[in-house]
Amino acid sequence: IPSENIRNFSIIAHVDHGKSTLADRLLEMTKTVCIEEGKAQVLDRLQVEKERGITVKAQTASLFYKSKTDNQIYLLNLIDTPGHVDFSNEVSRSLSACQGVILLVDANQGVQAQTVANFYLAFCKDLVIVPVLNKVDLKNANPEKVEEQLEGLFDIDAKTVLRISAKQGTGVENLLESIVTRLPHPITNRQAPLKALIFDSWFDKYRGAVVLIYVQDGCVKEGDIITTAYSQTSYTVKNVGILRPTEFNTGTLVGGQVGFLTCNIRSAKEAHIGDTIYLKDEPVEPFPGFKPAQPMVFAGLFPLDQSLHLEMKNALERLTLNDSAVSITTESSPALGLGWRLGFLGLLHLDVFNQRLDQEYNAQAIMTAPSVTYKAKITSKQLITKYGSNEFYFSNPMDFPDATITEALYEPFILGTIITPDEYLGDVLSLCMEKRGVQKSSINIDNTRVMIQCYFPLNEIVIDFHDTLKSITSGFGSFSYEDHGYELSNLVKLDILLNGNVIEELGTIVHASKAVNLGRKMVLKLLDMIPRQMFQIAIQASVKGKIIARENLKPYRKDVTSKLCGKRGGDITRKMKLLKQQSDAKKKMKMVGNIEIPRDTFINVLKR
Ligand code: GTP
Repeated sequence: IPSENIRNFSIIAHVDHGKSTLADRLLEMTKTVCIEEGKAQVLDRLQVEKERGITVKAQTASLFYKSKTDNQIYLLNLIDTPGHVDFSNEVSRSLSACQGVILLVDANQGVQAQTVANFYLAFCKDLVIVPVLNKVDLKNANPEKVEEQLEGLFDIDAKTVLRISAKQGTGVENLLESIVTRLPHPITNRQAPLKALIFDSWFDKYRGAVVLIYVQDGCVKEGDIITTAYSQTSYTVKNVGILRPTEFNTGTLVGGQVGFLTCNIRSAKEAHIGDTIYLKDEPVEPFPGFKPAQPMVFAGLFPLDQSLHLEMKNALERLTLNDSAVSITTESSPALGLGWRLGFLGLLHLDVFNQRLDQEYNAQAIMTAPSVTYKAKITSKQLITKYGSNEFYFSNPMDFPDATITEALYEPFILGTIITPDEYLGDVLSLCMEKRGVQKSSINIDNTRVMIQCYFPLNEIVIDFHDTLKSITSGFGSFSYEDHGYELSNLVKLDILLNGNVIEELGTIVHASKAVNLGRKMVLKLLDMIPRQMFQIAIQASVKGKIIARENLKPYRKDVTSKLCGKRGGDITRKMKLLKQQSDAKKKMKMVGNIEIPRDTFINVLKR
């Protein structure tokens, strides 16, 4: 197919504005798949995505469409992008394979925070933007008002905005025509040596990594020997093809095309997203701006039982190949044993990863409370030699430097964008204050909604900001964020003690102004989460060795069967069942010293 008849595009949208529904409709209308009534969306493959109703891994499909304008067949490559606030990085790299985007906005909800973030990602990459209003079938849809928002915020001409109902199919044919007529075709030189971009990958048990590529120049076929520019490793290409949306071997991919490739990539460290592929011994100038994903949130991960260590190590290796944005280093903890420290793009990313680990690999894991990366300026000569600088970065509360050697502490900040109906503005501003936000700007995007920009310490928003914002705005508030560097901060380490012993894994780093409050909350929460045991447990919080909160957990002997063992001895099957329930509950426990702690305590203790 000539490159003039190829269109590579993504749909970018705020969560729930209908991206998956539209993708399904496009697949169905181009006869790529038959959609059964009520069947889950085709592109959202993993179970965890279905549960959460959001797309996490980018997925791609090639569609063939016969244009009504010129009766020619076009190859439309839809590149699915994740829609959540944590994943702007994944959106960005998927956009590198596109020449245009569909900016999809719910005609009822209007422009939301991620619409703004996604618009600028596409805009900065110079992509052609086709603005589309979805859900015009809804009674409350107000397309005129949303068009005004698009005009006001992005300078988009209302006359260029399409109106569709992805659910009912209205206007989608027109959209397909617009993709052909308004988006540019890829510019390629098929005679030049191969130059291809890896923009996604996942792991297959039998074939190793399946990588998705955009062929910029030349062509790649089965049997070719290729080299990756960044990792400098060579492979023989096994399978090449397109996704419809399942793999369809074509044996070759030419300049301008998007498709998959397998070549026995066995390790996570080899398939870098953003890396360039060329033919062995025919190197080309790699794609610019390649940088590995930057994790923002870190947490420790430990097997519930050390005998599971190897099994979990394998599971982690496979999962990180599927999700190269996760960084991973080994860690050991006095209470939890040998484990890993993982870095994530955000808290949602972390939760999704944790769920995948459980679902796909059945790995019984303990995750510690998430933390961001702090920076310290230190005066200790010894440490300066060790780190090669008087500054060092740490995310683990256990590495919090001693006050005697610390000159200054810094924490990472972000610039957050919030869009909310103005009746909730008061509550939203209080939330921002509570989270140590400093307002940068506030503008009315129409007569009912406000867009606020605030600087926040990342630490304050990673835990539950998004959920809280949703609940105080009855679901109407939206949020997105970008990195804003480090700022000086008065940080302290909050320790948790059980019967006088510091439990390092429950320690956390917090702004001094919030330590007492957080300490109290954590102690009360632990009182609630830790089951009573045969002896009394003192739960305490301390800062710099000073106790700031304390509760006592009363002893209690839980014998679930005693009431069944009356004179008649009770019903034996009932008794066995109760004992089994109790032992299942025990499996979810972790012994820390002589105290049993539910394994989800480590991550839940910081949530509201
Ligand atoms: P993420 O994958 O989380 O980014 O969400 P999404 O943008 O893919 O949204 P999705 O397609 O899952 O749609 C969200 C909800 O809106 C679903 O309940 C859809 O049925 C509904 N929806 C999508 N398009 C339309 C439409 O045109 N009209 C109406 N009435 N509902 C729609």
